[in-house]
Amino acid sequence: MELAQDVELVLFGAAGDLSGRKLFPALLHLEACDLLEAQFNILALSREELTTEAFLQELKPKAQRYLDSTRWSEALWEKFAKRCRYVQMNFDQAADFDKLASTLRDSVTRIFYFATPPSLFKTICTNLGSAACLNADSRVVLEKPIGNDLASSRVVNETIDQYFTERQTYRIDHYLGKETVQNLLVLRFANRFINTQWDQSCIDHVQITVAETVGIEGRWSYYEQVGQLRDMVQNHLMQLLCLVAMEPPNAMTAEGIRDEKVKIVRALRCIDSSNVADHVVRGQYTNGFIGDRGLPGYCDEAGSESDSSDTETYVAIKAHIDNWRWAGVPFYLRTGKRLAEKVTEIVICYKSLPHNIFSHGENIPNRLVIRLQPNEGIEMQMVSKLHSLKDKMGLVRQNLNLDFLGSSGMDRIPDAYERLFLDAINGDQSLFVGREEIEESWRWCDSLIQAWEQQGMRVKSYPAGSMGPTRADLLIEKDGRSWHE
Ligand code: BG6
Repeated sequence: MELAQDVELVLFGAAGDLSGRKLFPALLHLEACDLLEAQFNILALSREELTTEAFLQELKPKAQRYLDSTRWSEALWEKFAKRCRYVQMNFDQAADFDKLASTLRDSVTRIFYFATPPSLFKTICTNLGSAACLNADSRVVLEKPIGNDLASSRVVNETIDQYFTERQTYRIDHYLGKETVQNLLVLRFANRFINTQWDQSCIDHVQITVAETVGIEGRWSYYEQVGQLRDMVQNHLMQLLCLVAMEPPNAMTAEGIRDEKVKIVRALRCIDSSNVADHVVRGQYTNGFIGDRGLPGYCDEAGSESDSSDTETYVAIKAHIDNWRWAGVPFYLRTGKRLAEKVTEIVICYKSLPHNIFSHGENIPNRLVIRLQPNEGIEMQMVSKLHSLKDKMGLVRQNLNLDFLGSSGMDRIPDAYERLFLDAINGDQSLFVGREEIEESWRWCDSLIQAWEQQGMRVKSYPAGSMGPTRADLLIEKDGRSWHE
């Protein structure tokens, strides 16, 4: 890891939603934890005509709103504000990049963070190159989406490649910055008893659920082009699946982890026209309730341009990994918007024992539940004896609980962006996504999308506040299994 002390963060899109909601609050948390070096400074770039003072004045209430309230103090803000300078720029004006070049400090690590729509990546890179803003120590941080399919993701990657090497490129998937996701690696590779039971001989199937209560949050025109498969499965669920399924890398290096993840994506069985109907369910929410809050259907959301649409806001997939470890173990994935509750969890469902000697109790298989949000933790569902004189050997399912927050001695779980900023500053790419992984993942998703288009598979409706279309229950129930609720 190259520890960088003298760092300039050059933030494109500094006045945007992501910066106000996630990036600045994460940086402020790092400040509050004394994790920013004295020489770390921020150049905030945006097209709005503002002075540094005016920019900070606008930023302050936004950052305060999203910062953990116990951390906020005027002194903290003053210290942080001294690191920031605002530069007004049009990202498509080459001359503005000469202005930027003259502002950049010499001999420092420059981190160019593109918190902008991907359509601007090429222009920004070209202008940075022409204005000689790049030095050998430059890094670039990219937000998703990296393309909309394999071909467009290659265009983005090739553009970036012309200016930055793979070693200088940090592609964000914020799920990798979540504490529990990193804990999954520790759980798997630092515990012998878990590691030795982690394959088709012991595991019946795996479920990965990313359920959201939010709708499309005012992004109708973006979302209408994308849908839940591209928005969530191609990146976040794919990363979770890889971390569950990959072989142990020989070391926790970026190359080691990426090599193992990419092997999993390549081993995913192709879903095409011949099997898509049995392996995929698409859904779209109609109006409904979450609690007592009445919610509009997808086509009635603010910004909607049509009263009918075939964009999926929910998708459930039965996937197979064709390799020695996972042969015959289905991975059921599901993710959707406007579902009954926000929950992200991975459930490892073990096989039943070959023979049940407890005649009063059913053969209850173990489950390992890895909860990413809310209440981050790990729960091992074990079988123990029912305490009863009447029922001598009755069996009951009980949980061994590892509550991360309670056991960590910390008062909060850090946000993903805090981890990712620190790693980008320190030159550690292990939690960033490699080019090959992204492209292989698009290859798999492209085939799946093409198949449902060819088969004319339209979305099934589900009411907001439910857990998705009933077809998604059938997807797993027809295999004699059920979703973990
Ligand atoms: C983003 C998607 O990448 O992840 C959003 O674009 C989604 O549609 C969000 O809501 C979910 O992130 P989290 O951290 O809230 O689970």
